[in-house]
Amino acid sequence: MAMRTGGAQKEGERPKLTGDRIRRALRIFSYVLPYRWTFIAGMVILAAGSLLFLGIMRLPGEVFNILDGEPTYNLGLNQVFLVLAGLLALQGVLSYLRVQLFARVSEKSMATLRSDLYQKLITLSIPFLEERRVGEMTSRITNDVTQVQGVISVTLAEFVRQVIILIGGIVLIIVAMPRLALIMLGTFPVVVLLAMFFGRHIRRLMKDRQDQLAQTNVVVEETMQSIQTVKAYTNEWFELKRYAKHLNEVVRLALRAAHMRGLFAAFIVSVMFGALFFIMWRASLMVQVGVMEKGDLVNFIIFTGIIGGAIASLGAFYTEMVSAVGATERIWEIMDETPEISPRQLPARPTQRFTGEVTYQQVQFTYPGRPDVPVLKGIDFTIPAGRKIALVGASGAGKSTIVQLLLQFYRVSAGQIWVDGKNIYDIDLLDYRQNIAIVPQEVMLFGGTIQENIAYGRPGASVAEIEDAAHKANAWQFIQAFPEGLQTLVGERGVKLSGGQRQRIAIARAILKDPAILLLDEATSSLDAESEKLVQEALNVLMEGRTSIIIAHRLATIRDVDCIYVIDNGLIIEQGTHDELSAIPDGAYNTLARLQFEMAG
Ligand SMILES: Nc1ncnc2c1ncn2[C@@H]1O[C@H](COP(=O)(O)OP(=O)(O)OP(=O)(O)O)[C@@H](O)[C@H]1O
Ligand SMILES: [Mg+2]
Repeated sequence: MAMRTGGAQKEGERPKLTGDRIRRALRIFSYVLPYRWTFIAGMVILAAGSLLFLGIMRLPGEVFNILDGEPTYNLGLNQVFLVLAGLLALQGVLSYLRVQLFARVSEKSMATLRSDLYQKLITLSIPFLEERRVGEMTSRITNDVTQVQGVISVTLAEFVRQVIILIGGIVLIIVAMPRLALIMLGTFPVVVLLAMFFGRHIRRLMKDRQDQLAQTNVVVEETMQSIQTVKAYTNEWFELKRYAKHLNEVVRLALRAAHMRGLFAAFIVSVMFGALFFIMWRASLMVQVGVMEKGDLVNFIIFTGIIGGAIASLGAFYTEMVSAVGATERIWEIMDETPEISPRQLPARPTQRFTGEVTYQQVQFTYPGRPDVPVLKGIDFTIPAGRKIALVGASGAGKSTIVQLLLQFYRVSAGQIWVDGKNIYDIDLLDYRQNIAIVPQEVMLFGGTIQENIAYGRPGASVAEIEDAAHKANAWQFIQAFPEGLQTLVGERGVKLSGGQRQRIAIARAILKDPAILLLDEATSSLDAESEKLVQEALNVLMEGRTSIIIAHRLATIRDVDCIYVIDNGLIIEQGTHDELSAIPDGAYNTLARLQFEMAG
C-alpha cells in the first residue's frame, strides 16, 4: 500500500531551529496562559529549590573545614548536620509542590489543546482529511501532544533548573576559587561543542526511528480495520512481512542512533572524568603547598561534578525541546486549517426548514486528490420540491459524486447548485445539512446500543419517537427479537447486524431526522428479495413528501420515480420517466435494462 512520501521527504531536510520556528512554537503557551499563576508559582519554587540545592551542596565541604579547625560559618559539626537535615526537608516540600504545580498546568492545558485539536479534525473538510492517513491524524492528538506535554510538565522545568544550577555553580566556584575555576572552565567549551555536535546528529537519527515506528503503526491499523479482507485473501503472511520490513527498518535506525548515543556517552564520560581528575590533580597540589583548605577541595570537586552534570543534561533537554518544536509545528498545521463549520449545539429541529427544490446548473467537478480527471462535466437538472428522481448509469459514472456535492462534502469546480432558490454555499452549513439525510450503501454503526444509533439522527429524541421511527423503518421486528431490545449493543463489542438490518437502522435514523431532502445511495442493492421488500417499504414511507434522489443499479426499484437521469462519464445522456425512456428503442436506459434482464435471466 501507498507510502507516506510527503512526510519522509520533510524529515530529510533536517530543519534548523530558527527564531521564527521558536516563536511559532511558543504559541503553545497560549494554552498555558489561563494557568499562568500556577505556572509562575511553579517556576518560583523551582528557582528556590535550585538555589537551595546549591546551598546544600556546600555543606559537605564545610564538614572537612570544621575537622581541620577552620570553619567558615562558625557552626559545630552537629549544627551543620542539623541545618542539612532541615534544608533537605524543605527541599522535599519544594520538590513535591513543583511536581504538583507543573502537572496541574500541563494536564489541564494539554487537555484543552487535545480537545481543540479533535474539534478541528472533526470540523475540517473531507478533502483535507482524505489527503492524510487516519493513523497520522490520531498520532497528532496522542504522540505530538504528549511530547509537548512532556516539555511543559518536566523538560522546561528541568532545563531552567539546570541552567540555574550551572550558572549558580560557576559563580560560586569563581568567587571561592578563581584560579582553579579558570582551569576547569577552560575545558568546558570542548565538552559543550562536542555535546552539541553529537546531539544534533542523534536527534535526527532518533526522529527517523520515530517516523519509521509510526509507519509500523499504520500497518497495524490498516490491517485491523480490514481484517476480514486480510483473512479472506489469506494475506496474513504478506502483512506480516510488510510489518516485519518496517520493524527491521526501525531496528536498523535505532541501532544507528544507539551507536551515536553510545559514542556520545563514552565521550562525555571520558572528557568529564578526564577533566575532573586533571583538576583534582591541580587542586591537590594546591592543598599540599597549603594554598587551599581540604574542605574547599571537596567543595570544588562536588561542584565540578554538579556543573558537568548540568551541562550533560542541558544537551538532552535541548534535544527534547527541539523535537517538541517539531511536534508543535505538526499541531499548528492542523489548528491553522479553516474548518468548514464551527460546531454548536443544535436545536432538535432545523431552524430553517427547506421546501426541498434542488437545481444543478452546469455543475462540473474534479476531485482535489485527482486534479487531472474531470468527474462531472456539466450536470443540469431541477427537482421540484417533494419529487423523486433516480440516477442510473455504469459504475464510476459519477452518481455518488453528484450526491456528495449536494451534501457539500466537496465544493463544485464550476457551475452552481441551488436549494430553494439559494446558492447552497450561501446557506449556513449546519442548518443546511440538518435538512438533508443520506442512507448510504455501507451503513456504519457506532459502538453503543441500537437506541443510541437510531437517536444519532436527532440527538435528544424521546424513546417513543425512536420506537416510532424503528416501526416505520420496518426495523422494530428484528429489534424486538433481541432479548435486550433497543438496548442491544451493536458494533465492535456487541452483536453484528446484517446488511439489511443495518440499512433499516439507517432508515430509522433518517426518519427521525425528518429531512426535506433525502439521498439514497443504492440503499437496496445488497439485499435479498425479502429484506429488499422490507427496506423498500420503509423507504417508501420515508420518501413521502420529501425531495428524494435515488441512486440505483437495479432499475426495477425506480419505475415510479418522477424522472430518471442516465449518467455516463460525468454527463446526463438521457432523461425522462420510465415509460418515456423505455420508448427510445436504442436508448441508454433500454440498453441498461436489457443488460440487467439478460443477467437476471
Ligand atoms: N474521493 C475520491 N477521490 C478521487 N477520485 C474519486 C473519489 N471518489 C470517486 N472518485 C472517482 O470519481 C469517479 C466517479 O465516482 P462515483 O463514486 O461518483 O461513481 P458512481 O457512479 O457512484 O459509481 P458506482 O455505481 O460504482 O457507485 C470514479 O472514476 C472514481 O474513481
Ligand atoms: Mg456510487
